[in-house]
Amino acid sequence: MGAILILGAGGRLGSALAREWRARGQDVLAMDRTAFSLDKVAEVQERLAGLEFEVLVNCAALTNVDYCESHREEAFRINAESVAAMAGVCAQKNARLIHVSTDYVFDGNATTPYSEADAPHPISVYGESKLAGEVEALAASPRNWVARVSWVFGPDRVSFVDQVIVRAKKEDRVEAVADKWATPTYTMDVCADLWHFLRGIEGGGVVHMSNAGVCSWQEYGQHALDCAVEAGLELKARMVGGLKMSDLKAFVAKRPPYSAMATAKFTSLTGIHPRGWREAVRQHVFDMVGRGMI
Ligand SMILES: NC(=O)c1ccc[n+]([C@@H]2O[C@H](COP(=O)([O-])OP(=O)(O)OC[C@H]3O[C@@H](n4cnc5c(N)ncnc54)[C@H](OP(=O)(O)O)[C@@H]3O)[C@@H](O)[C@H]2O)c1
Repeated sequence: MGAILILGAGGRLGSALAREWRARGQDVLAMDRTAFSLDKVAEVQERLAGLEFEVLVNCAALTNVDYCESHREEAFRINAESVAAMAGVCAQKNARLIHVSTDYVFDGNATTPYSEADAPHPISVYGESKLAGEVEALAASPRNWVARVSWVFGPDRVSFVDQVIVRAKKEDRVEAVADKWATPTYTMDVCADLWHFLRGIEGGGVVHMSNAGVCSWQEYGQHALDCAVEAGLELKARMVGGLKMSDLKAFVAKRPPYSAMATAKFTSLTGIHPRGWREAVRQHVFDMVGRGMI
């Protein structure tokens, strides 16, 4: 198979995909923000047209949800207009676009995991801009995939799991939101999961790709601390106290209270049952502690 182009290859997910797929022998053209900026849409089109690739995996995005709220134009430029440019070039080259998206396309009023058939209804500029990007990706070709992930964690960039452990090493008291639920997604699992969509799986559309299960931020943090203790870390705080989302005055954008996603479609396409989030978090914490990274 020809080259895979990864945009956003300096980020949490893009870095992992580039490294892990190269390790499998795949020819990967990995570009971070300095190598490929999405700031000017016309340049995105022009530069992509000059590159040779069979699949474009877009992990680049303006991911700061609160920043997006006050930078609407920029959010739509990076998260939607650039994606339209990517999708257009891919269609011309007959290349597949795999665009990574988010659970924040949902309003979070559900009480059971969202399926791909559920109508999106974003409640933030970030969510709106990401949904607009999804629409562009899917409109350009029936072979394009939108892979939605949620609460992404992994070895390439610090996330909530690492932050809660670092805080618990220094402080007596650690707290996290107890009334917001979703499913963590381990980048190392996405590397294996998304691999199947590079080749072999016909068609296109939206697919949810997280680990299995549902948790609150508080449960997620508590499990991270439990794993850290099990891995031998000395912590000052061993319990994660609960906060209400409404207590977090620093939040500018609205967040969906419940945005867990069902992965039955992913399983029907690949035959793979994603492992539970607890096992994935445990592997990550042991890996990071083992390498002295936390
Ligand atoms: N993180 C999560 O919990 C989460 C949850 C749901 C969905 N997602 C989705 O998953 C995908 C990957 O996210 P991630 O967790 O890997 O986030 P990330 O670490 O923030 O990666 C995004 C990358 O996009 C790059 N980028 C931002 N603006 C750019 C621009 N104008 N031009 C070129 N590159 C630009 C960033 O560069 P810099 O590092 O230089 O800023 C960063 O490397 C995104 O589509 C995101 O929407 C993430």
